[in-house]
Amino acid sequence: MGKLVVLAVLASLLGAVSCELSLSLSIIYKLYGYTTPGLRPYPIRPPSSAPSATQLQVGYYAKNTTCPKAEEIVRNAVRNASPGIQAGLIRLFFHDCFIRGCDASVLLNLTSDGIPTERQGGPNLSLRGFEVIDAAKEALEALKECKGVVSCADILAFAARDASYILSDGYINYDVKAGRYDGFKSNASETFEELPPPFGDLSVTTAMFAAKGLDEKDTVVLSGAHSIGRSACSSFNTASIEPVLGNKLNQTCGIPVNGATTVPQDYKTPDELDVQYYRNVQSGAALFNSDASLMTSPRTKELVDFYAANSLLLGFIFGETQWYKDFGKAMVKMGDIEVKTSKEGQIREKCALVNPPPSPPPPPMPY
Ligand code: HEM
Repeated sequence: MGKLVVLAVLASLLGAVSCELSLSLSIIYKLYGYTTPGLRPYPIRPPSSAPSATQLQVGYYAKNTTCPKAEEIVRNAVRNASPGIQAGLIRLFFHDCFIRGCDASVLLNLTSDGIPTERQGGPNLSLRGFEVIDAAKEALEALKECKGVVSCADILAFAARDASYILSDGYINYDVKAGRYDGFKSNASETFEELPPPFGDLSVTTAMFAAKGLDEKDTVVLSGAHSIGRSACSSFNTASIEPVLGNKLNQTCGIPVNGATTVPQDYKTPDELDVQYYRNVQSGAALFNSDASLMTSPRTKELVDFYAANSLLLGFIFGETQWYKDFGKAMVKMGDIEVKTSKEGQIREKCALVNPPPSPPPPPMPY
């Protein structure tokens, strides 16, 4: 009898382990882009305009320019910022890359055609962190060897990486390729056309990511940035949030909603860039419809569940560690969107303005 009980316990343990193992393996296969029999691969949609990031290089400023301290100077500026502003820097990078590629068009206050810039577009009015980019740029321009060398687009890419590192306690740690040039144009109306809306469902969000060369997995992975920072009350609807949190948010936001009031995006660990976001999505406690809608398709739900679960595979905490890695990879991929070369852009002197045109040559001296 005793032997039978031991055997039964052993058999059930083996069953549980193999079940966990096969589930985890199917997810691992998917995460690395392999297909297994019976599993559908993630759709690969070609981007509307292919990223042209081949000229970018890790360590670009140390290898090719007179400004080897570029990354260090940006890191120091980001370190001095508050967690909220650091969150803002990650969002700034996303909003930059989604409109006209990662070319610092989001930083412009004024262009030569005089039309309102992205910065003045509705979805961008709540962006923050500009002063950190300006401080880094100013520190760089003050150094003789760095003057006119480091693009604002690269400063933003470095700053988003450094903010991710700090807010994840060092778990998100990836190399940033650099060598981007800054664009000349910026148009407020494009903010509505190119940026995904918070009330959009999964098909809207994934289509807008696909238009930038980012797939469904990138969409799920990058949405994890909603584990930090804040949101205005006007950006979400408490009716679709689970009731306990929904009621708390109603108290803070007021009825009717005071659109200007803000709340933390992640009510549990507001300043930690971590997988709590996926647990919030599972429990209906994420703010936006775009977040909640990740549970509406089997493929995106599977990823949410995987990152949230912290499944133990052979003693290794898998979901969380994998998300930190995937987030870094997806940020690198986002940083490749429609990058400009020296022919299509410039190195701005001030990040909010395109450089003044070179002064015309002096008139010939009269004899
Ligand atoms: C999936 C589509 C996305 C939608 C619909 C969306 C929408 C929003 C909205 C509406 C806010 C709050 C703005 C406000 O009311 O103040 C916000 C905040 C934020 N988003 Fe997203 N977002 C998306 C994807 C992303 C991505 C890809 C990232 C970065 C990788 C990101 C990073 C952030 C951060 C860090 C904040 C907080 C900013 C702060 O505290 O200043 N979002 N997002």
